[in-house]
Amino acid sequence: MLGIDLSGKRALVAGVSDDGGFGFAIAKALAEAGATVSVGSWPPALGIFLKLIERGKMEESLRLSDGRKLEFERIYPLDAGFDTLADAPADIRENKRYKDQGDFSVAGMTERIRQDFGERGLDIVVHSLANGPEVKNPLLDTSRAGYLAAVSVSAYSNISLVRHLAPLMRPGGAFLSLTYMAGERVIPGYGGGMSSAKAALESDMRTLAFEAGRRWGVRVNAISAGPLASRAASAIGFIDTMIGYTSANSPLPGPITADDVGHTAAFLLSPLAAGITGSVVYVDRGYHAMGMAVAPPAPTP
Ligand SMILES: NC(=O)c1ccc[n+]([C@@H]2O[C@H](COP(=O)([O-])OP(=O)(O)OC[C@H]3O[C@@H](n4cnc5c(N)ncnc54)[C@H](O)[C@@H]3O)[C@@H](O)[C@H]2O)c1
Repeated sequence: MLGIDLSGKRALVAGVSDDGGFGFAIAKALAEAGATVSVGSWPPALGIFLKLIERGKMEESLRLSDGRKLEFERIYPLDAGFDTLADAPADIRENKRYKDQGDFSVAGMTERIRQDFGERGLDIVVHSLANGPEVKNPLLDTSRAGYLAAVSVSAYSNISLVRHLAPLMRPGGAFLSLTYMAGERVIPGYGGGMSSAKAALESDMRTLAFEAGRRWGVRVNAISAGPLASRAASAIGFIDTMIGYTSANSPLPGPITADDVGHTAAFLLSPLAAGITGSVVYVDRGYHAMGMAVAPPAPTP
């Protein structure tokens, strides 16, 4: 039988700090397929995440289908907005949520991974993080600082992850990031430069597939996911309307699940997808193919 077998593979999923988003579902799917999984977690959310795990509040969601429990091999503090610790301003470094975390930059996490697993200890890296401080502002009313922050954390961070971590990848290594259709089409309300960040993320993914493919032999892909009420998406303010609208107007009516994305990710990151790189794969029940609405939007709750 043709199955997804990731046994013996080690994965890092950057952007997990609860069990409600795509990163968690991807981590779980990779573990279901046999991979060992570490996560990178944003310092402001890390404390709560660790408490949820320690206090057993995530027992149910950590349960794998064969009864095993998903155990993260490592949980690294990561602020993907900084390539080195020196890039982080003093007020961040001295902030109570950051100051005891050691080097939380991309370079710092890379060094810890190197110390923990050696020069060639990684097979899979997932970028599942985004932040736009002005996401509720229309693009037209977004400040330069807000726009640059969105693109820095949500798009440049993927370049940084590939540059730092590709040298640690074993042959057959694969990267994946999460994008959203707002990078290609207008999604009113997805503001603050987040649409620009997703456009950059997708374009960079193709260029990185070429450059990192030639330099290190790794694959680089993206999943364009339909809307999900994760913590990050709920911050946009109208996620239920987005879910209702796409559910009603997709070729396959109904919402996507985080597991739909997790399973596609496991495939794309597995040797079964050895010939796929530089691709955006849509996990949106076909919504991207539509050119006209078939139903009025669901009322905003
Ligand atoms: N939820 C959706 O509707 C949707 C749709 C398409 C794509 N996506 C993308 O999926 C990815 C995961 O988001 P999600 O919706 O699953 O939400 P999520 O809340 O599970 O994940 C976002 C993560 O980003 C982390 N983060 C924020 N700033 C960071 C920083 N500076 N450094 C490191 N980590 C940081 C947060 O702590 C959080 O863990 C994002 O790229 C998002 O844009 C989401």
